[in-house]
Amino acid sequence: MNFSEQIISWYNDNKRELPWRNTTDAYIIWLSEIILQQTRVEQGLPYFYRFLERFPDISSFANAREDEILNLWQGLGYYSRGRNMLKTAQLIQDQYNGVFPVKYDDLIKLKGIGEYTAAAISSFAANETRAVVDGNVSRVLARYLGIDEPINSTKGKKIFQNIADELLDLNDPATHNQAIMEFGAIICKPKNPACGTCVLRLDCVAFKTNAIKYLPVKLKK
Ligand code: ADE
Repeated sequence: MNFSEQIISWYNDNKRELPWRNTTDAYIIWLSEIILQQTRVEQGLPYFYRFLERFPDISSFANAREDEILNLWQGLGYYSRGRNMLKTAQLIQDQYNGVFPVKYDDLIKLKGIGEYTAAAISSFAANETRAVVDGNVSRVLARYLGIDEPINSTKGKKIFQNIADELLDLNDPATHNQAIMEFGAIICKPKNPACGTCVLRLDCVAFKTNAIKYLPVKLKK
């Protein structure tokens, strides 16, 4: 089995049931991905449910008052995320007739949506072949391939994006992307990774060379 087959097979046996994984609704995926930026799944889950209950679709979100959104956002931090969401929802309402875009090239133009989020929404909602790269993904790749380029330098970001694109399963980019993020969150954790139960360890350069604790390399900013 190649990298993607192994990671997807592990994912199918071990994934958590998370509510945004059973939908191709770009609005719901967007909501979850923005909440999960800089926020752990356990912390983000109750916010996700509260937002979805209060704003079940893009038009209810677009018609919200900013203070209500910021009020619901309380405790999550980085309030610019909430403000950007309102602007983006209003723009989608006005310029896309309330239909959430699913193409990467449209998504990347929207406020609050960067490369990671555009790749996530376009792959999860429309199976576009875009590899997601976040901290989880670069950590897995740095260790598996033994790459000591900093994951947060300009050069490093390009390198990890290129590798992620090459490894992506073109037949099922959505599952591949979910799988590698889940693998990074549950097995290939930043501290105390579960190498003992890792299905990739026999091919993992960092495991084989005892370099797990030195990888990934991060530049101090
Ligand atoms: N963190 C960011 N996006 C995620 C997702 N789709 N599933 C689990 N954790 C995530």
